[in-house]
Amino acid sequence: MLKIEHINSGYGKTRIIHDVSLHIAPGEIVSVIGRNGVGKSTLMKTIIGLNGLDSGEILFDGKHVSKMKAHQRARLGMGYVAQGHGILSSLTVEDNIKMGMDINSKGMIQARFDQVYEYFPRLAERKTQIAGTMSGGEQAMLSIARVLVGQPKIILLDEPSEGVQPNIVHKIGEIVELICKEFDLTVLLVEQHMGLIQQVSQKSYVMDKGVLIAELTKEQLNDSNIIKQYLTV
Ligand SMILES: Nc1ncnc2c1ncn2[C@@H]1O[C@H](COP(=O)(O)OP(=O)(O)OP(=O)(O)O)[C@@H](O)[C@H]1O
Ligand SMILES: [Mg+2]
Repeated sequence: MLKIEHINSGYGKTRIIHDVSLHIAPGEIVSVIGRNGVGKSTLMKTIIGLNGLDSGEILFDGKHVSKMKAHQRARLGMGYVAQGHGILSSLTVEDNIKMGMDINSKGMIQARFDQVYEYFPRLAERKTQIAGTMSGGEQAMLSIARVLVGQPKIILLDEPSEGVQPNIVHKIGEIVELICKEFDLTVLLVEQHMGLIQQVSQKSYVMDKGVLIAELTKEQLNDSNIIKQYLTV
């Protein structure tokens, strides 16, 4: 579904991502873990086309997308939820969700809209609420609902647990697993919350200073010694 080969990227002359290769099969939930500032968000932005690529290849669904603009990649089915959820806080819940639809060239598809509300009854109840007044957990749900209406094939989720109360982070995990199945999705997840990583990911890449230093299986992700080895400062 997604194949990244030897990519390098950064900001101006500063290189952040060094020779990163990764692959995700259809239907998989794969995560990238690593300490603050190692380049996880930069990697996501590079894959989605918001950040320039210096070299390397990005293949999505068998197509070379490295030279495509972000909106072209979105149309092909690459969805992205930015770190901090990317909610427009002064707009209503419904207007935020509608923004996700504009991305898709096929336009507004009411059935999809209704379907998404079905999975997020809490958002359906709060259609007219100003998004900025929602709780952290609700905003995380809203950001996922918004990307779903664009009918993506893959979703890149950058720290969905950010700003979410620890006791409801597992709900985000349940939602991610559910939508993955129901909407035939593949997910690339960046997270710091180890519980969420262990709950949903089939495999995980460890990033340090812009380099992927390890690929961990589900079993290894549940081994606290291995996690400590890679994630303690
Ligand atoms: N727009 C930008 N211009 C210049 N440097 C940037 C920009 N965005 C990020 N950086 C730098 O790139 C490096 C990687 O940042 P990035 O946001 O990708 O890390 P991260 O792993 O996502 O961190 P966090 O876990 O805190 O979200 C950092 O040193 C950061 O200061
Ligand atoms: Mg980040």
